[in-house]
Amino acid sequence: MISIVWTKDLEVERGEIDDQHRHLFKLLADFYTQLQKGAGRDVLARMLEDLMSYAGEHFALEEMYLQEHPDFARHRQLHYSFIKKMNAFERGYLHGDIALGVEMVDFVRRWLCEHIAGTDRLQFADLRKDRF
Ligand SMILES: [Fe+2]
Repeated sequence: MISIVWTKDLEVERGEIDDQHRHLFKLLADFYTQLQKGAGRDVLARMLEDLMSYAGEHFALEEMYLQEHPDFARHRQLHYSFIKKMNAFERGYLHGDIALGVEMVDFVRRWLCEHIAGTDRLQFADLRKDRF
Protein backbone atom coordinates (compact mmCIF):
# COMPACT_ATOMS: atom_id res chain seq x y z
CA MET A 1 0.00 0.00 0.00
CA ILE A 2 1.51 3.31 -1.09
CA SER A 3 0.61 6.40 0.92
CA ILE A 4 0.20 9.44 -1.32
CA VAL A 5 -0.20 12.63 0.67
CA TRP A 6 1.03 16.17 0.37
CA THR A 7 2.60 17.21 3.65
CA LYS A 8 3.35 20.65 5.08
CA ASP A 9 7.11 20.17 4.72
CA LEU A 10 6.57 20.33 0.94
CA GLU A 11 5.22 23.87 1.12
CA VAL A 12 7.00 26.33 -1.18
CA GLU A 13 5.05 29.27 0.30
CA ARG A 14 3.52 30.38 -2.96
CA GLY A 15 -0.18 29.60 -2.74
CA GLU A 16 -0.78 28.92 -6.40
CA ILE A 17 2.14 26.48 -6.68
CA ASP A 18 1.30 24.74 -3.40
CA ASP A 19 -2.29 24.28 -4.59
CA GLN A 20 -1.03 22.72 -7.80
CA HIS A 21 1.32 20.41 -5.90
CA ARG A 22 -1.59 19.32 -3.70
CA HIS A 23 -3.68 18.72 -6.78
CA LEU A 24 -0.93 16.60 -8.35
CA PHE A 25 -0.88 14.40 -5.24
CA LYS A 26 -4.66 14.13 -5.43
CA LEU A 27 -4.64 13.10 -9.10
CA LEU A 28 -1.99 10.50 -8.34
CA ALA A 29 -3.88 9.19 -5.29
CA ASP A 30 -7.07 8.91 -7.36
CA PHE A 31 -5.22 7.04 -10.08
CA TYR A 32 -3.78 4.66 -7.49
CA THR A 33 -7.22 4.07 -5.95
CA GLN A 34 -8.67 3.17 -9.34
CA LEU A 35 -5.68 0.99 -10.11
CA GLN A 36 -6.18 -0.93 -6.85
CA LYS A 37 -9.88 -1.31 -7.62
CA GLY A 38 -9.03 -2.86 -10.95
CA ALA A 39 -10.58 -0.12 -13.07
CA GLY A 40 -10.54 -0.58 -16.83
CA ARG A 41 -7.57 0.35 -18.92
CA ASP A 42 -9.50 3.12 -20.69
CA VAL A 43 -10.37 4.76 -17.35
CA LEU A 44 -6.80 4.51 -16.12
CA ALA A 45 -5.36 5.76 -19.40
CA ARG A 46 -7.60 8.82 -19.24
CA MET A 47 -6.63 9.54 -15.64
CA LEU A 48 -2.98 9.21 -16.49
CA GLU A 49 -3.42 11.56 -19.41
CA ASP A 50 -5.09 14.11 -17.11
CA LEU A 51 -2.30 13.78 -14.58
CA MET A 52 0.38 14.31 -17.21
CA SER A 53 -1.33 17.25 -18.87
CA TYR A 54 -1.80 18.89 -15.47
CA ALA A 55 1.86 18.23 -14.65
CA GLY A 56 2.83 19.85 -17.96
CA GLU A 57 0.84 23.01 -17.20
CA HIS A 58 2.24 23.09 -13.69
CA PHE A 59 5.85 22.79 -14.89
CA ALA A 60 5.26 25.61 -17.37
CA LEU A 61 4.02 27.89 -14.59
CA GLU A 62 6.98 27.07 -12.33
CA GLU A 63 9.35 27.68 -15.21
CA MET A 64 7.77 31.05 -15.87
CA TYR A 65 8.43 32.15 -12.28
CA LEU A 66 11.91 30.70 -12.08
CA GLN A 67 13.36 31.38 -15.53
CA GLU A 68 15.83 33.92 -14.14
CA HIS A 69 17.09 31.61 -11.40
CA PRO A 70 20.80 30.78 -11.83
CA ASP A 71 20.03 27.06 -11.55
CA PHE A 72 17.00 27.24 -13.86
CA ALA A 73 18.45 25.07 -16.64
CA ARG A 74 18.91 22.14 -14.26
CA HIS A 75 15.38 22.62 -12.93
CA ARG A 76 13.86 22.56 -16.40
CA GLN A 77 15.94 19.51 -17.27
CA LEU A 78 14.49 17.69 -14.23
CA HIS A 79 10.96 18.43 -15.45
CA TYR A 80 11.90 17.23 -18.91
CA SER A 81 13.45 13.97 -17.64
CA PHE A 82 10.34 13.31 -15.57
CA ILE A 83 8.07 13.67 -18.60
CA LYS A 84 10.35 11.47 -20.68
CA LYS A 85 10.40 8.75 -18.04
CA MET A 86 6.61 8.97 -17.68
CA ASN A 87 6.12 8.65 -21.42
CA ALA A 88 8.12 5.43 -21.35
CA PHE A 89 6.11 4.15 -18.38
CA GLU A 90 2.87 5.07 -20.10
CA ARG A 91 3.82 3.26 -23.28
CA GLY A 92 4.78 0.08 -21.41
CA TYR A 93 1.76 0.24 -19.18
CA LEU A 94 -0.77 0.83 -21.92
CA HIS A 95 0.74 -2.00 -23.92
CA GLY A 96 -0.15 -4.48 -21.26
CA ASP A 97 2.49 -4.45 -18.57
CA ILE A 98 0.02 -4.06 -15.68
CA ALA A 99 2.64 -4.41 -12.96
CA LEU A 100 4.14 -1.20 -14.25
CA GLY A 101 1.12 0.69 -12.85
CA VAL A 102 2.16 0.40 -9.21
CA GLU A 103 5.81 0.97 -10.06
CA MET A 104 4.82 4.13 -11.89
CA VAL A 105 2.72 5.41 -8.97
CA ASP A 106 5.63 4.83 -6.63
CA PHE A 107 8.00 6.59 -8.99
CA VAL A 108 5.75 9.66 -9.29
CA ARG A 109 5.20 9.88 -5.53
CA ARG A 110 8.91 9.63 -4.83
CA TRP A 111 9.81 12.05 -7.61
CA LEU A 112 7.29 14.66 -6.46
CA CYS A 113 8.52 14.51 -2.86
CA GLU A 114 12.20 14.69 -3.78
CA HIS A 115 11.75 17.31 -6.47
CA ILE A 116 9.55 19.63 -4.43
CA ALA A 117 11.67 19.33 -1.29
CA GLY A 118 15.02 19.42 -3.08
CA THR A 119 14.50 21.88 -5.92
CA ASP A 120 11.16 23.74 -5.88
CA ARG A 121 11.43 24.75 -2.24
CA LEU A 122 14.95 26.11 -2.61
CA GLN A 123 14.30 28.04 -5.81
CA PHE A 124 11.01 29.51 -4.63
CA ALA A 125 12.75 30.55 -1.39
CA ASP A 126 15.34 32.38 -3.53
CA LEU A 127 12.51 34.06 -5.47
CA ARG A 128 10.87 35.14 -2.22
CA LYS A 129 14.12 36.62 -0.98
CA ASP A 130 14.72 38.47 -4.25
CA ARG A 131 17.94 36.57 -4.83
CA PHE A 132 17.68 36.65 -8.61
FE1 LIG B 1 9.76 21.92 -10.28
